[in-house]
Amino acid sequence: MSEKKLEGAGLRGQVAGKTSLSTVGKAGKGLTYRGYPIEVLSEKAKFEEVAYLLMYGALPTNDEYKEYSNKLISMRSLPDSILEVLERIPASAHPMDVMRTGCSMLGNVEPEGEFTNQQESADRILATMASIIVYWYKYSHEGEKVKTSSDYETIGGHFLSLLHGKEPSEDQIRCLDTSLILYAEHGFNASTFTARTCASTLSDIHSCITGAIGTLRGPLHGGANEAAMELIEKFSTIEEAKSAVLKMLENKEKIMGFGHAVYSTEDPRNAIIKKWAEKLSKTNGDETLYLVSEQIEKTMDEEKNMFANTDFFMASAYSYLEIPTKLFTPLFVIGRTSGWAANIFEQRADNRIIRPSEEYIGPDSSEWVDLEDR
Ligand code: COA
Repeated sequence: MSEKKLEGAGLRGQVAGKTSLSTVGKAGKGLTYRGYPIEVLSEKAKFEEVAYLLMYGALPTNDEYKEYSNKLISMRSLPDSILEVLERIPASAHPMDVMRTGCSMLGNVEPEGEFTNQQESADRILATMASIIVYWYKYSHEGEKVKTSSDYETIGGHFLSLLHGKEPSEDQIRCLDTSLILYAEHGFNASTFTARTCASTLSDIHSCITGAIGTLRGPLHGGANEAAMELIEKFSTIEEAKSAVLKMLENKEKIMGFGHAVYSTEDPRNAIIKKWAEKLSKTNGDETLYLVSEQIEKTMDEEKNMFANTDFFMASAYSYLEIPTKLFTPLFVIGRTSGWAANIFEQRADNRIIRPSEEYIGPDSSEWVDLEDR
């Protein structure tokens, strides 16, 4: 890395505030949400339990879980005004722009109002995200107006059933729910920091989350899972994949889905989603995507000593779930909404407006010249 980059650019390594939500790569802890290791949550918890843990402060009791799960199920339907807006967005739109518009529109028709309503608003946003993206996708691409409600216990089941119009298998639901758990929370990453900055001005939750969606849209953040897919689907053999990646590295191109701003040796989420990608590749019968991904991971390790982050195998896992590539980053949004909301609550509970200083590097003084003389 160049000297210039090391000088704290991108606020790297600087502590910008306190949180009790997650540890990201802390020595001896790895990734934990409120103290629970990601390995345990991804194996034992439902996504909704994790969302509750983050947003309400503790794991729900059995009764609380049932009540919460039913509440989210009852909140999935979209009002006509939002359906109308979604129907006007063309198929060529970027799905993250659809998410951004959907969340923003929800803020118009169901504004948060007092902060005492923050939990209700957050639950409603969380419950509607899958309905928003699938409704737009099915209408704009296939002319179908899908029902935006369903009785599936988890968002994974709701999303897959709306998208495919048939009952997903237990494994498919579990894989998607697991991916949402892995995406749920990750410290002061760029989109969460955006949400916290917006919250620090005492703005409303829809503005905070709309801004966070815009930040997550970029290929250096959430968009990496789609970029990884675009890479792996090009190859039909592992040999092809290896030689293409070697050439890309020679040309100093970045391989999307590798590297991390905080982790230095591994991304703990990778092993979890990689296992799911492998499992689904076996059920699917065509293991090519998985094997190609595994080869690229190996080549990146050998050549650059770089590890796959969670987005890399997410691409093949989602592809085995027959999810169109353009819906990958919106799924990241659905998972991360729980973390964004929890961060917004945390920021509000102990707020000071976020306003860092800057180092001025412009001209010392500039002399005014009238427009007609320029
Ligand atoms: N493929 C190839 N080289 C990579 C790379 C990748 N995915 N990620 C980083 N590098 C190289 C950079 O080219 C740079 O080399 P240099 O010092 O010779 O210029 C060096 O490693 C440091 O990279 P940098 O981008 O400065 O690190 P960062 O900490 O600022 O950025 C990421 C972290 C995640 C943004 C970066 O690794 C990246 O762009 N990865 C691909 C996108 C991605 O997967 N994002 C999802 C993150 S969960």
